[in-house]
Amino acid sequence: MKTAIIGGTGLKALADAATSLAPPQTPYGEPVTPWVCDEFPNTVFINRHADGHTLLPHEINYRANLWMLRELEARAIVAVLTVGGIAATLANGDFVLPRQIVDYTSGRAHTFSTGGPNGKIFHADFSEPFSPSLRSQLAAAAHAANVEFHDGGVYGCTQGPRLETAAEIDRMERDGCTVVGMTAMPEAALARELQIPYAGLCMVVNPAAGRGGGESHTENLDEIDVADMRNVASAMRPRLMRILQRFVESA
Ligand code: HPA
Repeated sequence: MKTAIIGGTGLKALADAATSLAPPQTPYGEPVTPWVCDEFPNTVFINRHADGHTLLPHEINYRANLWMLRELEARAIVAVLTVGGIAATLANGDFVLPRQIVDYTSGRAHTFSTGGPNGKIFHADFSEPFSPSLRSQLAAAAHAANVEFHDGGVYGCTQGPRLETAAEIDRMERDGCTVVGMTAMPEAALARELQIPYAGLCMVVNPAAGRGGGESHTENLDEIDVADMRNVASAMRPRLMRILQRFVESA
């Protein structure tokens, strides 16, 4: 297997005939079920939230998933990441190829490095969390697929599962974040520890908290609607598939 694509349930539904593979054992517990399909040769897919979308971002076994991708001989990982847009230049339905990450998660199993008397102390260089060459390949694939995208940006990764407060988003913006999501970390860092190039392809599915431009709600507290987010993601899927198809053709 050359390319691994980490994405959502919707991708599997679009494949003509997805074939599930038996997940290999890992020292870190159970990964999700990988699958393949004819339209994407030399590619393995996983849905990080599991089939049926049962795992919340903090419940995902990132270590088992990444270890599995190594066992499956993934040489590159493209992570599809749904996000809220923080930067004013972003709108629902936009694609973003971020360059940087700020990690706000806590309490997730975030490293393969155990340290201690019998372990190996290992500090992975993470100055550039996304592989620059993989980013370039993804950008070229988006161009070839005739899909517009924002080249660059900072992904702020929150713990969830709740969405953020408007003040938290203000703080994240001051920190330089342009998009907010819940799943790129520790995924990206674990890929780096395993030395597998990793790049994120973000799909903006909602304006981040306080960025919707609406009145502040006193009666209806649900400013951000999850069903709306799903609808935006579904509408983006044909463009996403085109980018991924071009990417896999050129990989
Ligand atoms: N916040 C955090 N994660 C998200 C969001 C958001 O607004 N939208 C999609 N994933």
